Order: sequence, then C-alpha cells, then structure tokens
Amino acid sequence: MKTIRDIDITGKRVLIRVDFNVPMDEEGTITDDLRIRTVMPTIDYALEQGAKVILCSHMGRPKGQRVEKFSLAPVSRYLADILDKEVQLAPDCVGSEVEAMVNKMENGDVILLENLRFHVEEQANDADFADQLARLADVYINNAFAVSHRAHASVVGVPSHCAEKGAGLLLQKEMDFFHRSVDDPFRPLVAIVGGAKVSSKLGALENMLDKVDCMLIGGAMANTFLKSQGYGVGDSKVEDDLLDNARKLLADAAKKEVKVYLPVDVLAADSFSPDAVCKQVTIQDIPDKWMALDIGPATVICFNEVLANARTVIWNGPMGAFEMDAFSRGTMALAHTLAASHALTITGGGDSNAAVKLSGEADNISYMSTGGGAFLMLMEGKELPGVVALEK
Ligand code: 3PG
Repeated sequence: MKTIRDIDITGKRVLIRVDFNVPMDEEGTITDDLRIRTVMPTIDYALEQGAKVILCSHMGRPKGQRVEKFSLAPVSRYLADILDKEVQLAPDCVGSEVEAMVNKMENGDVILLENLRFHVEEQANDADFADQLARLADVYINNAFAVSHRAHASVVGVPSHCAEKGAGLLLQKEMDFFHRSVDDPFRPLVAIVGGAKVSSKLGALENMLDKVDCMLIGGAMANTFLKSQGYGVGDSKVEDDLLDNARKLLADAAKKEVKVYLPVDVLAADSFSPDAVCKQVTIQDIPDKWMALDIGPATVICFNEVLANARTVIWNGPMGAFEMDAFSRGTMALAHTLAASHALTITGGGDSNAAVKLSGEADNISYMSTGGGAFLMLMEGKELPGVVALEK
C-alpha cells in the first residue's frame, strides 16, 4: 500500500481524511482522545515535510443537517493545543469561502474542515461533492481507518478524483497489525468474541473459524449459543432466529478442529439493573426469569487457561454488561489477563476499548484499534472500501 511517505508532499495541499468522531460530554469536552492521538504522527510528518495540511472528518450522524452539537469546533481547539499552533476551523467543508481559505494557506498551516456529514452528499457518495472536496487538494491521504468501511464521498469518492493518493500512517499501522494478527499470526491464535448480538458478528465468527485455533465466546451473544445446545437461559437475551446458525457454527468449528469455549457459569440477575439481585450459577442452573449478565468465575479460569497458551489474541466485544459495575468482573478479568500476557494482543470495537480503558490496562495491550465497524469488517474477511479506493 502506498503511504504518505511515498509521495512528495512538500509545499502541496494535502487533504487528510481522519476520523475525529470522538466521544464528547454535554459540555463538548472530549472524553476519549484515542482517535486524535493516533493520527498525530501523520499530521506531524506532513508538517515536517512542509505540506499545507487540510483535515476532514465526520462527527456523529447529523443526517445532512448543520447540527451544532456535531461541530468539529471542540476538536479544532484540542488539536491546536496538542500541536501548539493555530488550527483554523473552516465554516464548512466545501464552497467558495473554504476554497478562499485554502488558497491563502502557507506551507505548515493546518485547516480543519467542518463536519463532512453536514452535507447529505457525503454519505450518498455524491460525485460532485467528492469533486469539490478533491479540488481543495493536490494529494489525498486516507488516515481514517475507523470509517474506511463506509463507501462515503470523502472515503471512496475523493480518491477517485485525485491522482496522488495514499494511506496515512495510522491506516497503514491498523492494516499491518490486523494482518499480522489474523493472516500471519504466531500460533495459537485465540479470538475472544463477545457483545450483545450474534447477528452483528455472525460474519466475523464464521470467517474467524478459518483463521483461529480457539475461540472464546462470552457476552449476551453466548446465550444464543448456550440455548442452541439445549441449556435453559431464563430471560437472558437470546436471538431465537439464530439458534440454527449458532448450532451450525459450533458444528463447523468441530469439523475444522477449532475449539470453541462457551461460558460454563454466569452471573445471573433478576433484572437488568445495577442493583439487581445476583447469583453465580452454572449454565445448567440459570433460574427461570433471571438473566445472564456476565461470565462467572469458573469461566474466567477456563478462558484464562486457554489464553495462557496463546501467542496472538484478538478481542472484540465485552463478556457482560460491564458498564454496570456489578457485571464488569468477567470483562475486567480478561482485560487484566491480556495485559499480563506475552502474546500479541489486539482489541477492536468501542466497547472492548472502553472496557480496556476502564480496567486501567490500555498501556499494556499490544494494539487497540481505533475501528469499530471497520475492525469487524476485517474480521469478516472483507476488504475495506476506503483501502480499495486507494489502490485503484
Ligand atoms: C465509528 O465510530 O465507528 C466511525 O466513526 C464510523 O461512524 P458511523 O458508524 O457513524 O459511520
């Protein structure tokens, strides 16, 4: 993959697509800056090379409307602080005023365009909108791994209008880590898959069966697997329409000699609430009307034993409703196990990353991907449209 380092960008207008879709509280304070910090090496490199840096991003889902709470103004201030230099926030991402601002840029200047999704044309991959964005730039760089699964104008349209294009250092790093961990891993390779729904991860589970040596399944999605094996799971969340898929996946795993581990015990609760009455039970004993909200201690021991032998671990999705303290123990335990492991450990997805952060182990994980949907798409074995667009 051609990267920013392979292109002469000195003195050029370089349009860098980043993903500054960062969480903010109600006062507009950024509560997690992973997606900002991780693009800094690319911005620093472009500045060192004397480029004119034009950053563009989406924020939230404003559906083509100008919605102030989705303005990138807080991000421009945050960036200016980190860079210790002025970052001009353009009033829009296209149009004559923006073109005039760009035309006045000196080498080493930084402009952040306003939220791309204030225009409905962004998500529609409108050719004229893409052309207007492309006209702002001599070189296009995609450094937005986390949105590269979307065939939007700034992701796939703009590169088709730009002769000079390549990947930013974050996109390159994300792709390298993923391929190193899944396509050419040190074995055993163990996948930990959790989260709420089998339906959103079925493709990833199926594809990963061809890659991994072992798979650990937790979170609410484990209930569907347990029920497919004949266990009564009380009022736990179950996707009844996917019981056959779950059964088939386990049968396929056996044929492929992939070991799949399901919970052997759970923390059951009488309601989905932080002060629910809870008890640890084996999966044979989940009471009627109760629900499994975390994996239990015996499961943690069993999962830890599998992880002790792993040389590569890829983790997507929490083991329980970790956002409630009472049901966070299983997820926290796995975060600590991964942190202490000598394996290459990779996490992806907003919930898994939030859980790792909550455990205080973020610095002890080999790589935390900035992607949610994009990471899952790679786990499904699919190509990212944003990466394909760079190669055309
Ligand atoms: C994300 O947060 O996963 C990316 O920024 C993509 O956002 P989207 O799901 O709104 O397209």
